Amino acid sequence: MPTPTSSTIQPTPNHDRQVQANFGPRANAYVESRVHAQGEDLNRLAGLAQHVSPRRAIDLGAGGGHVSYTMAPYAGAVTAVDLSANMLAAIDETSVAKGLANITTQQASVEHLPFADDSFDFLACRYSAHHWHDVNAGLREARRVLPKGAKAVFIDVTAAASPLLNTHLQAIELLRDTSHVRNYTVAEWSDMLGRAGFAIEALHPHRLRMEFKSWVARIGTPEPLCTAILMLQEKASPEVKAHFAIEPDGSFMLDMVMFETVAID
Ligand SMILES: C[S@@+](CC[C@H](N)C(=O)[O-])C[C@H]1O[C@@H](n2cnc3c(N)ncnc32)[C@H](O)[C@@H]1O
Repeated sequence: MPTPTSSTIQPTPNHDRQVQANFGPRANAYVESRVHAQGEDLNRLAGLAQHVSPRRAIDLGAGGGHVSYTMAPYAGAVTAVDLSANMLAAIDETSVAKGLANITTQQASVEHLPFADDSFDFLACRYSAHHWHDVNAGLREARRVLPKGAKAVFIDVTAAASPLLNTHLQAIELLRDTSHVRNYTVAEWSDMLGRAGFAIEALHPHRLRMEFKSWVARIGTPEPLCTAILMLQEKASPEVKAHFAIEPDGSFMLDMVMFETVAID
C-alpha cells in the first residue's frame, strides 16, 4: 500500500492532544526508561555528533531527552522539541542535573516547527515519527530547518514488509498506546525520506527486547488493553510468534532502524 501523501491527510489537532494526554503524565517514566536511555543507536549517534560537532542541533520528538543528552557534549547548542510540556519540563530538570547547560526546550508539533529555514546544522529524531499524524509534513519540516548538506538521523521501530507481521505490530502498538499512528517499513521510510529531501547514507537495523510489564507501564496502558495484547500474542500464528520472539510473559523483540541521511535539494 503506498504511503499517503500530506495532501491526502486532514489536519488532526485532536490527535496532537491525544499524544500530549498519553505522554504528559509519563514524562518521568521516559526519562528513567532504560530502553530509551541506552542502546547501540545512541552510541552511534554520539559518534556522529562528535564527528560533525554541530553548532546547533535539534532533537525532534525529544520525549525523555536521551537524544539531546547524547548530542549535547558535542554540540554548541541543542534544541529539544516535543508536543508535551511535561516532557520538556522533565528535560529541563534532567539537563540541569546532568550539568548540560546547552540544551533548551521548545514546545511544538514537528509538523509546524517554529524555526526559520536552515536554523540547525544537525538533526536527530528517535522513536517519535510513528506518533506523527502527518509524517510527510514532519519530515518536510525537518528538511526545511536544515541547510543543504546537513546530516540528519532518524531512528524508529520499523514494520516488516510481510502484511501478517506488519498487522500484528500495528495492532499491539495501538492497543498499548492509542496515540500510535503507524510503524513504517524500511521501504516506506526510504520513500518518505527521499520525497522530503533526504538522501540515505547508511542504514543500521537492530532488534530490541521489550519487557512486557515495563513496556505497558511506561505509557500507562489500561489493564483490559494489556489483556487484549496478551490474548493477541497467544492466538498469533506461529510465524508471528517466531518473528517477534514472543515469550510466555508477553515480552518480545521489536525491529528498529537508524537512518543516517544528508539533506539534499
Ligand atoms: C517515545 S517518545 C520519544 C523518545 C525520545 N526521542 C528518546 O529517544 O528517548 C515519543 C515522543 O514524541 C512526541 N511526539 C509525538 N508526536 C509529536 C509531534 N507531532 N510533534 C512533536 N512531538 C511529538 C511525544 O510527545 C513523545 O514525547
